Amino acid sequence: MDTSYNILLIGSGGREHAIAWKLNQSEYLGNLYTAPGNPGTDEFGINVNLDPSDFEQVARFAAEQNIDVVVIGPEAPLVNGLTNYLESKNIAVFGPRKSAAMLEGSKEFAKEFMVKYNIPTADYAVFSSDEFDDALTFIQTKEKYPIVLKADGLAGGKGVFICNSEAEVVKRLEELKTSASLSKAADRLLVEEFMEGEEASVFVISDGHTSHIIHNAQDHKRIGEGDTGLNTGGMGAYSPAPVLTEDILEQVKKQIIEPTITGMQLEESDYQGILYVGLMITDQGPKVVEYNCRFGDPECQVILPSLENDLLDLIVAATEQRLDEVKIQLDNKHRCCVVLVSGGYPGSYEKEILITGVDSIKEDAIVFHAGTKLMNGDLVTNGGRVLNVVASGKTLKEAIDTAYKNVEKIHFDNCYYRKDIGHKGLDRI
Ligand SMILES: Nc1ncnc2c1ncn2[C@@H]1O[C@H](COP(=O)(O)OP(=O)(O)O)[C@@H](O)[C@H]1O
Ligand SMILES: [Mg+2]
Repeated sequence: MDTSYNILLIGSGGREHAIAWKLNQSEYLGNLYTAPGNPGTDEFGINVNLDPSDFEQVARFAAEQNIDVVVIGPEAPLVNGLTNYLESKNIAVFGPRKSAAMLEGSKEFAKEFMVKYNIPTADYAVFSSDEFDDALTFIQTKEKYPIVLKADGLAGGKGVFICNSEAEVVKRLEELKTSASLSKAADRLLVEEFMEGEEASVFVISDGHTSHIIHNAQDHKRIGEGDTGLNTGGMGAYSPAPVLTEDILEQVKKQIIEPTITGMQLEESDYQGILYVGLMITDQGPKVVEYNCRFGDPECQVILPSLENDLLDLIVAATEQRLDEVKIQLDNKHRCCVVLVSGGYPGSYEKEILITGVDSIKEDAIVFHAGTKLMNGDLVTNGGRVLNVVASGKTLKEAIDTAYKNVEKIHFDNCYYRKDIGHKGLDRI
């Protein structure tokens, strides 16, 4: 790389702030634009008010500003084909094309793919929306609980139900059929065998042919301590996940990642971008829970600070099919991210509440913004997940303690956060 690269980053969450923060450390970064971005990304470039679902608007902006690579953070634009559209206008993109993003966009597609390429995952059956009665009969015949119901399409983390009884199955089937927000995603329904074990995620960068594991992490989806209560976008994460021993990681690589990348090549859907492999570590070894076609949020916030490589260098290498030339380097520290949310989240909550203390966090932690905005010069809340506090340590315990010490410096009315992020990791050590 002997030039500077202008980047357009799509997204507005903590993940995108972490990506912007990391890109900003690159000596190759030219101009950085984030669309729509947040007050955190604004520190490293210019936020632009583009609508990622308006492909033409994005392409026009990229052409006008001489953007060298568009980096797509969230799943929806990828699944909807923003990569294809931009590439058709000769704009380079980091992130899979529509046919490859199907690994996340359709859980049925992902399952068929895994079966075809012998990739370990839970057994399943699929039903269309007019066959829900058959789904119920199938579950009644099996009579094995818990059982997992999943909407096929993107459902923002709200399309999966783990049911412990037939009554619960009946109730959830009705919900999937009638809910305005879910019925489209549940046009096809998956019924999955429940896998026992502990979850962890592995993050892979691929240029379509060569892939490298960047790192791994474990997130905390539930709102309440001890993993109780409603599902959220993510309440925290830590990295690495001790459940992923070297031996298990080797199995993940050989049995899951390599066959996924070569399988997608055989399907003529080369996978370029970040592949997030959600795993269940079972007694029979690691199995895939799901694929995502981008970084996780908040996992990204603990992964990127651990990465010693220049992220821009990796991204450009991926878009130019040169990942065989790079080696991933990590700093081998532990990291913990605590997410501060608006009280009431994931239900309803107030916005525009004054936030104080962010500027007092300096050397030993990083604050990544998510749902914040500036109002008359003041930082205020603007979403459910508001801020991410990330700290590192030589041990997981040190990373956790430093993260919480810094969380206490931030204040806004009705702020809530889980006090047990990383506990599962500590229990294993
Ligand atoms: N087959 C399964 N066995 C056990 N738990 C599961 C299974 N499938 C999903 N889950 C649980 O449900 C969560 C959400 O499912 P996932 O497939 O990741 O969907 P999404 O993230 O799109 O909502 C998983 O993180 C996991 O905790
Ligand atoms: Mg998931």
